[in-house]
Amino acid sequence: MSSEKNAPIGVFDSGVGGLTVVQEIMRNLPNEHIVYFGDTARVPYGSKSKETVLRYSRQIVRFLKTHKVKAIVVACNTASALALDIIAEEIDLPILGVVRPGASVAVQATHNKKVGVIATESTIHSNLYPLLIQREDPEITVYGKACPLFVPLIEEGWTKDYITVEVAKRYLEELLEKDIDTLIMGCTHYPLLKTLLKGILGAQVTLINPAYETSQVIKRMLEDLSLENDSYCSDGEKYQFYASDIVNKFNVFAHSILPYDIKIMKQILIEEY
Ligand code: DGL
Repeated sequence: MSSEKNAPIGVFDSGVGGLTVVQEIMRNLPNEHIVYFGDTARVPYGSKSKETVLRYSRQIVRFLKTHKVKAIVVACNTASALALDIIAEEIDLPILGVVRPGASVAVQATHNKKVGVIATESTIHSNLYPLLIQREDPEITVYGKACPLFVPLIEEGWTKDYITVEVAKRYLEELLEKDIDTLIMGCTHYPLLKTLLKGILGAQVTLINPAYETSQVIKRMLEDLSLENDSYCSDGEKYQFYASDIVNKFNVFAHSILPYDIKIMKQILIEEY
C-alpha cells in the first residue's frame, strides 16, 4: 500500500486559477505530492457547453492517470459542476470537486437562509450550487450571479483596481438587495478578490472559499482511506505543473499566488490523451 500512499494527487483546472486550490492543498496537506494540469490552451471553460467541458475533462483525467495519481481534485468550479458526476462514474479513483464542499459550508454559515453564489456563466447555468444547498436545507434561498468579467480582470492583475471595484459593485448590487448573509466565491479566481469583495459587502456577509473547504475534504478523505503520504521530499520534488499552452504566463501568475518557485513545468499536447 505504501507506494499508493506516496503517489501524487492530481489536480486540474481550465487554466491558472486552480492554483488557488493548489495553494490550499499545499498549506493544509504539506506532505502530499501534486501533479497539476492547467488547460491554458482551451480556457475559459466558463462559457462552454457541458459536452465540451466533459470531453476536455476526460482527456485531462486520462493524462493525470499516466502519472499514477492516487486521487483527483477537480479544482475548476465549471468542470466540477458540468463534468464531475459523470466522470466519477467512469473512473476507479477517488475524485472530488470544489462545488460540493463549497455548498456544504455555505449551508452551515448562513443564518438568514439567503445565500449568494458568484461564478462563471456555465456554473450558474448548471444550477448545481442551489441544488446541493437546497438538498441539505430546503429553506435556503440561493441567488446566483454570473460574473464573466472577473476572470480576465484578475488575470490582468487588477485585483485592487478601481475598475474592478466598479464592476464588482454592479455584479453584487442585486445580491445585496436580496439581503444575502453568505456569498460563495464559486470560481477558482475569485478568492483573489476576497479583500475587494469584503470591502463592498461589509462584515455582515460571510465569504465562502470552496478551495479551502475542498482541501479539508481531501484531508479527511485520505485519512479515511489510509492514503496520507508518509514520505519526505523537498518542495521542488513534490510538485509538478503541466499546461496545454506556453508556460510563461502560467509562471507569472503562479509566482503571484504560490509561496515558492515552480520548478517542474511542462507544456503538453492534451488532445493526445
Ligand atoms: N476555472 C474556472 C472556474 O472555476 C474559471 C475560468 C474559466 O472560465 O475557465 O469556473
